[in-house]
Amino acid sequence: MSRDGTRPPQISASVLNADFSRLGEEVRRAAEGGVDSIHLDVMDGHFVGNITMGPVVVEAVRDQSTLPYHSHLMISRPMRYVRPFAEAGSDVIAFHLEADDDPGAVIEEIQRAGRGAGLAVNPETPAERALPYLDAIDLLLVMTVNPGWGGQAFITEVLPKLAALRAEADRRGLDLPIAVDGGVNLETIGAAYGAGGDVLVTGSALYAQPGDLRPAVRALRAAARAGTVATTEGSRS
Ligand code: DX5
Ligand code: ZN
Repeated sequence: MSRDGTRPPQISASVLNADFSRLGEEVRRAAEGGVDSIHLDVMDGHFVGNITMGPVVVEAVRDQSTLPYHSHLMISRPMRYVRPFAEAGSDVIAFHLEADDDPGAVIEEIQRAGRGAGLAVNPETPAERALPYLDAIDLLLVMTVNPGWGGQAFITEVLPKLAALRAEADRRGLDLPIAVDGGVNLETIGAAYGAGGDVLVTGSALYAQPGDLRPAVRALRAAARAGTVATTEGSRS
């Protein structure tokens, strides 16, 4: 199923699977490859089992590109870290609905800090729980893997939830970008975009490519527009 192209597919590079020994160069490589934003996966070892980076890393790579930096906070108590991630240079700060702070309060704090407020929802979280916040947020982040690691398989069972959330945002007349995060690659990006995700976060699929990322980014955009429909048995065109 391909969409009418009213929202062009945006490619967001998740650096989680990049070469962390050269993270600045890897951010630059994605930017020069033509991605639309940089996705920084922040994990605290508490909300998710993995630990990755803090504000100091966002600050360290901030000058590598003028693209929007999306900090994806897979952390407990996100309220406490809004200001540090804002000051480190995040343009969008996405936190998890499942974290233990009041989502409305966190959204307000992010916007008070002059940044875009993103709300992330895990695969198991029903769409209904995000509905009260759709009008307030600047980005909805629909997880298609359980958060914590890159290189996982795309959970196609999330697609109906994604489509329902896009339909509701459209019904309300919201200009709401919806990101799809986890397992997005050439095989799954068409279904993700076709179901209503217009910010396609790609980590391992992108950074698996050496050198110039322009061909990979072009291929991902084309595959998004081709809009194949993935089913639970696997993707088919
Ligand atoms: C998972 C991260 C995602 C994802 C990106 O917790 O939020 O950004 O892993 O990596 P790939 O594209 O490899 O799934
Ligand atoms: Zn992420």
